[in-house]
Amino acid sequence: MFGSDEQRIALAEGYVAILATTGIERGLIGPREVPRLWGRHVLGSAVIEELIPEKADVLDVGSGGGLPGIPLAIARPDLLVTLVEPMQRRVDFLREVVDELDLVNVEVLRARAEEVDPQGRADVVVSRAVAPLGRLAGLCLPLARVGGVMMAVKGQSAGEEIERDAREIKRAGGGPASISVCGEGKLAEPVFTVPATVVSIERVR
Ligand SMILES: C[S@@+](CC[C@H](N)C(=O)[O-])C[C@H]1O[C@@H](n2cnc3c(N)ncnc32)[C@H](O)[C@@H]1O
Repeated sequence: MFGSDEQRIALAEGYVAILATTGIERGLIGPREVPRLWGRHVLGSAVIEELIPEKADVLDVGSGGGLPGIPLAIARPDLLVTLVEPMQRRVDFLREVVDELDLVNVEVLRARAEEVDPQGRADVVVSRAVAPLGRLAGLCLPLARVGGVMMAVKGQSAGEEIERDAREIKRAGGGPASISVCGEGKLAEPVFTVPATVVSIERVR
């Protein structure tokens, strides 16, 4: 298990190293993203941990190269994080990362969100850069238990998307949406897009 800060930092460094090499060779991350791997991608994903209750069962929908799920699992060994990703090439990469870093609290599931069985199980469903908020609510809310929450990492469009997609969110069983800014004051100097803006919506029915 990775209980100490030193162990978690070493794992995060290991993940950044894999993204910067294999991740780029296999097209999971663009070469121009290398300078932003730590700030925008890894820290910007890890900071959402502050919204997640202890020992939560978390799904990361459309995980791609493991964002935000892998940084989240490294930051919070108490969570069980399932990375949900339909593309085989990406699933292979995710399984290699999990094996290489020995992330015992991460599972990888090859599936589209709509195919996950059973639905309605997770405490928290996270996502980043998968779909506009309304469509995302249709994918993520059915995966959460009633009383569970979807959390979407969004940029400055968060407020606009909530207003624009209110009907779709409600139709998908969502309650009122709230916006949180995560990671404020966590870093000595602000890095790229940390703090991260997250939209949270509880499944109410
Ligand atoms: C732009 S990538 C973002 C990847 C990662 N979340 C990130 O922030 O780097 C979108 C990902 O969502 C996945 N995806 C698209 N539709 C999906 C669905 N219905 N269910 C699950 N994943 C889906 C794609 O295969 C792709 O890996």
